[in-house]
Amino acid sequence: MLEKKKGLTMNLQNIIEKIPKAELHLHIEGTFEPELMFEIARRNNIVTRFKSVEELRKAYDFHNLQSFLDIYYEGANVLIYEKDFYDLTFAYLLKCREDNVVHTEIFFDPQTHTHRGISFKVMFNGIFAALKDAEKEWGITSQMIMCFLRHLSEEDAMKTLKEALPYKNNILAVGLDSSEVGHPPSKFERVFKEAIKEGFLTVAHAGEEGPPEYVWEALDLLKVKRIDHGVRCIEDEKLMRRIISEKIPLTVCPLSNIKLCVFKKMEDHNLQKLLQQGVIVTINSDDPAYFGGYANQNYIKTVEALNLNVGDVVQIAKNSFQASFMSDELKKSWMKKCDHFLGTSKENSK
Ligand code: ADE
Ligand code: ZN
Repeated sequence: MLEKKKGLTMNLQNIIEKIPKAELHLHIEGTFEPELMFEIARRNNIVTRFKSVEELRKAYDFHNLQSFLDIYYEGANVLIYEKDFYDLTFAYLLKCREDNVVHTEIFFDPQTHTHRGISFKVMFNGIFAALKDAEKEWGITSQMIMCFLRHLSEEDAMKTLKEALPYKNNILAVGLDSSEVGHPPSKFERVFKEAIKEGFLTVAHAGEEGPPEYVWEALDLLKVKRIDHGVRCIEDEKLMRRIISEKIPLTVCPLSNIKLCVFKKMEDHNLQKLLQQGVIVTINSDDPAYFGGYANQNYIKTVEALNLNVGDVVQIAKNSFQASFMSDELKKSWMKKCDHFLGTSKENSK
């Protein structure tokens, strides 16, 4: 149970904790808590450059995306066996259960592992088995989205796509992540075209640190169904009109944006402005082990700093289902469940 936070009524905090939600922007490698990392390193006889959990946590002081990515890739180096990937994924799903995340569409980065000699099969089987177990045990549904690392070549991404083909029935979409600036979506136009031909849906990180032009490219060249982050869309009026009229959701990650200095402080975040203008905004945790909180903590910190009300929380939770890749029937049913929370609020504001 989360502590009551200053500025949030118990009622609003309770609604955030209880309302069902989908998480659509989550890197499974970014859920690697230091305690589990040390445990897996120990059982795999790997010596890390950090001596303790505390020392590792102290290093989580980022000034931009790249300073985070360097540590994030280093952390993933201790994942060797199927069980390691299983344990990593299952630990995240336990957090979903705590936070009432009932559906998740997780990113995984095959190249982070295949480049270290870990097979696609080992990585995939470990993650997939945990997802299936959580569905069986708790009814949490999920999908897998395979991301290409944009700092690597288009050729490498194409090779990864080919490696994924035997698993394609269980990978719903492809995405694009890692260092954004200098690696525009256009670099991967051919790979995404091929992925679409093979039946994958597409998403991409764009407009996190990169300019609105990258969002245009993701829409026009990669044919994405959602934009991951996309907070810089607001700098381009024509782009805003497009994402609103075409109902292109943004998977926004507030704590990530603060930790990576996209905004100086939460009070400066543009999520409320996006919401008020009619963008389908969702709240997600991105890399929660590194950024200080899972789904509910992201909701709480955002609601508190931007003074959002019950109506906003219900809208954001509904958006998470609307923006998901679930069937229309399931979307409707979860959105209806969210609407019940409007009725449970004694006050329709804070
Ligand atoms: N990989 C993991 N987290 C990321 C982020 N926020 N942006 C780009 N690539 C990522
Ligand atoms: Zn991300």
